[in-house]
Amino acid sequence: MARTHIDKRSRLVSAAVGLAYQNGFGATSLADIAREAEVPLGNVYYYFKTKDDIGDAIVELRLAQLSAQRQRWNEAGSPKDRLCACVQDVFENKDFLAQRGGSPPLSASDVNLLHESVTASGKKPTVAPRPMTTAEIRQTVADYARAGRNAMEAGFDGLEILAGYLYLIPQFLNRVTNRRTDEYGGSIESRARILFEVVEAVLEEVDPSRVGVKISPMHEGGPMAANDETLPITEYAVRKLDGYGLSHLLLMGNTTDFTGTPLEPLMGDGMFRHFRPIFSGKLIANVGMTAERGNHLIAEGIADLVAFGRPYIANPDLVERLATGAPLAEVDWQTVYASGPRGYTDYPAFRRAAAE
Ligand SMILES: Cc1cc2nc3c(=O)[nH]c(=O)nc-3n(C[C@H](O)[C@H](O)[C@H](O)COP(=O)(O)O)c2cc1C
Repeated sequence: MARTHIDKRSRLVSAAVGLAYQNGFGATSLADIAREAEVPLGNVYYYFKTKDDIGDAIVELRLAQLSAQRQRWNEAGSPKDRLCACVQDVFENKDFLAQRGGSPPLSASDVNLLHESVTASGKKPTVAPRPMTTAEIRQTVADYARAGRNAMEAGFDGLEILAGYLYLIPQFLNRVTNRRTDEYGGSIESRARILFEVVEAVLEEVDPSRVGVKISPMHEGGPMAANDETLPITEYAVRKLDGYGLSHLLLMGNTTDFTGTPLEPLMGDGMFRHFRPIFSGKLIANVGMTAERGNHLIAEGIADLVAFGRPYIANPDLVERLATGAPLAEVDWQTVYASGPRGYTDYPAFRRAAAE
């Protein structure tokens, strides 16, 4: 297949940048979500909770609204032809006590991630979760499938299962946060079991050509620091994922310094070079992309597409800016992960910014 540059636009996608954060945690109503879908947001992916109201809220986002949004994005000079739902379980696992009426979040085991949880009332330290029962794991797997079905009914073109960063699936993959002794813990194969149950359950509902997975080995500190099984389990997962004919694998490059960890050779483009031979489908490279880096990765055959996260928040006309070499605006960190109306939707396009 001929490889084109991201300058040609067809190789550039947006990474998921948490729309639902804007709505506040837990309090999001179907109407709020639907209203949000009418605004010209600068990102392709949405994510939704796989349980409760937000999982079902996707159905409320009718195809017409999605088409209208596509139209607005096109008018804003940021054409987005494919809309993807990002399916993840953020609320179950990065949440904190007060958000759940006193009950702890759920995870593989009771290991506190020692991170911060973004909540409607600001960042809070994470708490020790409660280990999920087997029945709760089965229910969660079924929830992912339901979210997938909902996403299709709502008219999304595809969905991405989040198996990276600090969320539920990585908490099962990680040897330190997964101390289970049942079939979901122990060996690499057992810790990865939930990922493949989720993938297979979603594929019962959605054609594989519409399902992607976001994953990467990481080194995030505390129990999520890289250990000697971080890379082997990710390799195992990616190799096995290759057998499902998925739409894509979105690989995050390093977000922290891997120096001195088993992941050191994967820093920078090393991440994509390492996994390219292991995954034969479409590989999307993410984290810290620039036009130059993206073009290089595509030209070298190391990635098929490149995904921008933060730049898409601050630059509604990102594609045009990259194509014309216009400067990129920086994200205002005061407004992301917040519940107010500012941020995500109100960054001006470059021409307008220049004229003002
Ligand atoms: C404000 C914000 C919210 C994000 N929310 C999500 C999310 O909900 N799901 C997800 O998979 N990634 C999420 N990400 C991560 C991005 O998809 C992306 O992987 C990351 O920002 C790295 O890409 P970048 O260097 O181009 O920003 C978020 C990133 C930001 C900055």
